[in-house]
Amino acid sequence: MVNREIERLFCYSRDELLGLPVEILIPERYKTGHSILRAGYFKNPEPRMMGKCRELFGLRKDGIEVPVEIGITPVETEEGVFVISTIVDISYRKHAEAEQRKLEEQLRQAQKMEALGQLASGIAHDINNILQAIQASAEIAVKDTIEPVLVDKFYEIIMNVERGKHVVERILSFSRQKSLNVQPLDLKKQTEATIAFLKAMLPPEVQLQLHAEPGLPHILADVNSVDLILMNLTNNAAQAMQSGGKLDIALESFYAKDNFVRMHPELNEGCYVRMLVRDTGEGMNEEIREKAFDPFFTTKASQGGSGLGLSIVQRLVLEHGGSIWIDSEEGAGTAVSCLFPAANDSAVEYIGDDISMPYGNSQRIICVDDESALQTVNNQVLSGLGYRPSVFVDPRVALDVFKSSPAEFDLAVIDYSMPFLNGIKLTSELLKIRPGFPVVIVSGSVKGSVEKQFKKVGAKALIRKPYTRLELAHTLFSVLNSD
Ligand SMILES: Nc1ncnc2c1ncn2[C@@H]1O[C@H](COP(=O)(O)OP(=O)(O)OP(=O)(O)O)[C@@H](O)[C@H]1O
Ligand SMILES: [Mg+2]
Repeated sequence: MVNREIERLFCYSRDELLGLPVEILIPERYKTGHSILRAGYFKNPEPRMMGKCRELFGLRKDGIEVPVEIGITPVETEEGVFVISTIVDISYRKHAEAEQRKLEEQLRQAQKMEALGQLASGIAHDINNILQAIQASAEIAVKDTIEPVLVDKFYEIIMNVERGKHVVERILSFSRQKSLNVQPLDLKKQTEATIAFLKAMLPPEVQLQLHAEPGLPHILADVNSVDLILMNLTNNAAQAMQSGGKLDIALESFYAKDNFVRMHPELNEGCYVRMLVRDTGEGMNEEIREKAFDPFFTTKASQGGSGLGLSIVQRLVLEHGGSIWIDSEEGAGTAVSCLFPAANDSAVEYIGDDISMPYGNSQRIICVDDESALQTVNNQVLSGLGYRPSVFVDPRVALDVFKSSPAEFDLAVIDYSMPFLNGIKLTSELLKIRPGFPVVIVSGSVKGSVEKQFKKVGAKALIRKPYTRLELAHTLFSVLNSD
């Protein structure tokens, strides 16, 4: 006897089923056990619910298994004992239970992330103070040093501290859930810049190589986040290759097709750029791989790992509208793929090239700072950036030189606080001689009054000390190329 519901559930017609043993509806692995149980049941038949202690599955005609609940009742007839079996498809309930478990897991993750946010902002705050102290010392050291090699090194310190401050800022905003500063970004250039800095931190046994597909589209991303992602992934890779190995960073365009998007519902069909960070290190087993993104999960507790790296990376990638996954084989290595949404062409037109150093074109710069120790530094830095500097310590001398040949110069960089003529007064004198002449004021003070004064006097830009070479390069370049 077969009813409609059984026909629907198992995709067989009534005619196909009649006369066949019930085992046709049972998955292969349970078939033998079922025949034995069935024989046993007929010795002492009584109504009962099956599957109290284990899950039951039915087998459809097309081979698909369906979770079911089964109740059986013996019926005495003239022809002997028959059994009526009620089979209920519980796929829907199973699905709802799985959804519920997923939601609980998400809630648990959200609570962990909140705790993580609080912790991170505390740590970030302390690191920020330390970075400030390093920067201040490096700044003083730069002033006291005339040895060109050391000056260069101190500038490197200042620049890297600046980088560290961006990372800290990112962690702070991460815990405050601030939105990202997403802009079209040349991932190749950005990666090259970050790698130059990372190489100094990697052990010499680790060989790092970048492979970038030519003509890669720009991505829509926040520069500091991309830095942070790269840093975490390369750190993990290097830590997995204690006795050396190869670390490859590959950048390639990636089209997320509909079947891929179905597996990664966080994505939309379309163009992405994939950043692949691959190592030949120890790899991960299945259990570690599954937990790797969990906040606080670490196998490096004894080496000071916090287990936060990958959870931060995952969160950042997802906030960008991207996706991240890990391929790993124990003993062979690991590859982490991050997808970032590609910028469309019109967005790329507005690109501000933020990362490469913009060089000058031998323009003449009159630079005035009363700090005599800075004379060499300024000379070096400005020449290094492709300009021809004339550096003065006394603003009155600078003014005389400018008066005698105002057309000789293309731009002035002037310190704000100087004896005899402060930066604002000197600027106003220069502008009287040559109206519209581009002046950049440099100031160690952060008071709002400097801000107002420099605009009022007609200077084109204000740079705050301590400034990085990159900041200076950008300011000079944009002032000189503003019209
Ligand atoms: N490239 C990799 N190769 C092998 N295992 C990895 C790799 N990257 C991550 N893992 C595993 O995933 C775990 C979590 O990584 P995650 O970056 O989140 O934390 P961590 O590196 O342990 O600590 P932290 O990054 O906070 O210093 C690691 O402890 C490690 O077991
Ligand atoms: Mg890590």
